[in-house]
Amino acid sequence: MPVGTTLDRYIMQRQLAFAYATGELSQLLRDLALAAKIVHREVNRAGLIDLTGGMGLQNVQGESQQKLDVVADIRFRRALTNGGEVCALISEEEEDIIYTGNNQGKYVVAIDPLDGSSNIDVNVSIGTIFSIYRRVTPIGTAPTVEDFLQGGHEQVAAGYILYGSSTILVYTTGHSVDGFTYDNSLGEFILSHPDIKTPTDGAIYSCNDGNVDTYEPAIQTYLTMCRRKEYTARYIGSLVADFHRNLLKGGIYLYPPTSKNPDGKLRLLYECYPLAFLAERAGGKAITSSGSVLDVQPQYLHQRAPLYIGAPSMMNELTQLLRA
Ligand code: AHG
Ligand code: MN
Ligand code: MN
Ligand code: MN
Repeated sequence: MPVGTTLDRYIMQRQLAFAYATGELSQLLRDLALAAKIVHREVNRAGLIDLTGGMGLQNVQGESQQKLDVVADIRFRRALTNGGEVCALISEEEEDIIYTGNNQGKYVVAIDPLDGSSNIDVNVSIGTIFSIYRRVTPIGTAPTVEDFLQGGHEQVAAGYILYGSSTILVYTTGHSVDGFTYDNSLGEFILSHPDIKTPTDGAIYSCNDGNVDTYEPAIQTYLTMCRRKEYTARYIGSLVADFHRNLLKGGIYLYPPTSKNPDGKLRLLYECYPLAFLAERAGGKAITSSGSVLDVQPQYLHQRAPLYIGAPSMMNELTQLLRA
């Protein structure tokens, strides 16, 4: 598909390529893109319409909710509810399953409505991460937690929006990974990064250096090797931004278990699984300390997992140390 194609046209073309496709997933992707345009607008005006700062509330994660966390959560929930393709969703910002009231919906969505909240007030890139499953409970019945705990390999689509120097939507439906840059003047996402393949090797590593002393020995050994090879250390503190840079340039992102987060900080269903799906479709790898992220068995909605994700050669070096 030529660069310059709109997201709408791209979705339609891809749908036509699959005889069995009935258009619901296409519509769901459009619904997500609509919410992304609205959140893009609010992220870009946050400082002007008093959308920075905290709500004075905590979410189920024990984090202080930022106003934009809540705004993004509302916008994506509303778009997915009104779109008619989703029977339920889970969000980082909500403890329990959010039922749309439409039990005819074939899909469920797990979403991190705003990733990198600590960066909102200082005008650093933030993002949204989403993961889509076909429901396993019968259509017409109320969805259950079982629809969300199918495991990473059952995702039918996954993606993210990065609200950065430009706003880009990157997603996969299990084939290619494609990036669409938002053109404000047209109000359209335009294909700018067709068929993204991550470099097989890289010289960028991303982790929160402040936690290094609490990392397991194999991780510390790996980071010492990165420093000895004079790799570049780049850590933005927004997973989506760090992931996107490494995806395009080649690199590795690590969020190991720490004393504060002994199971890792990142959430399996709406951070680790979707990015692992994207990474693997782009030729990269994603593991925890004990195997592939997509193989991790989900036990509960806001489950956390360690995440090591990036260029295959760098990941292979890390895996050897973890297995030693
Ligand atoms: P969220 O803002 O959705 O809660 O995610 C924050 C995550 C991720 O975006 C980022 O890479 C990581 O937390 C940063 O954690 P530290 O501040 O502990 O490094
Ligand atoms: Mn958070
Ligand atoms: Mn996040
Ligand atoms: Mn978040």
